[in-house]
Amino acid sequence: MDDMFGLRVAVIVGSTRDGRFGPVVANWLLIHLAQREDMTFDLVDLAETPLPTVFPAFGQPAAPGTAELLAPVSPRLAAADAFVIVTPEYNHSFPASLKNAIDWHNKEWHAKPVGFVSYGGLSGGLRAVEQLRVVLAELHAVTIRDTVSFHGAWTQFDADAKAKDPAADAAAKTMLDQLAWWAHALRDAKALRPYAA
Ligand SMILES: Cc1cc2nc3c(=O)[nH]c(=O)nc-3n(C[C@H](O)[C@H](O)[C@H](O)COP(=O)(O)O)c2cc1C
Repeated sequence: MDDMFGLRVAVIVGSTRDGRFGPVVANWLLIHLAQREDMTFDLVDLAETPLPTVFPAFGQPAAPGTAELLAPVSPRLAAADAFVIVTPEYNHSFPASLKNAIDWHNKEWHAKPVGFVSYGGLSGGLRAVEQLRVVLAELHAVTIRDTVSFHGAWTQFDADAKAKDPAADAAAKTMLDQLAWWAHALRDAKALRPYAA
């Protein structure tokens, strides 16, 4: 199988809020990804790639300008072998910006694994993750069992942006190892037999 470039992992930063904490969490994850020999990553930051929020009528062309806004995102999701979604918890769920990005795509998610790094207040974003599993199942994606979560996230990183608790680093390795297993398994299977949705 084609392992020349390793697994291509798209890291999606779901929060677009002014003053957001998301990049601290994402940058911590990217250090883990950069250390892996089996993966390359592409950071898809939804704050840098705002997408439209009005969908076209069924069977109708999208509004002018839609294709231009999707162009910096969709091909990168299509090219990914696997995803890691970095999500906060907003009102016991995930942010609207993330759902919007998910909803603009369909085949881009099919038969691909999705891991999660979540953060938030008391729950560490776990409720956001559990809801994302339901959404992504509809899109034929496979969600990874083990996650990384930061509760009270703003207290969990030191001045060098390292996680204070080494358990978080161990959790990231576990999640990425599981993601790699699924990404290889699904990529190999798709090469043998195209996924029929
Ligand atoms: C609209 C909104 C709703 C929130 N709801 C929750 C919540 O239900 N549970 C929780 O633990 N934290 C909640 N928080 C706290 C966020 O998880 C926390 O501020 C996090 O840093 C937000 O991510 P961001 O800074 O990247 O936007 C909420 C924050 C916002 C802005």
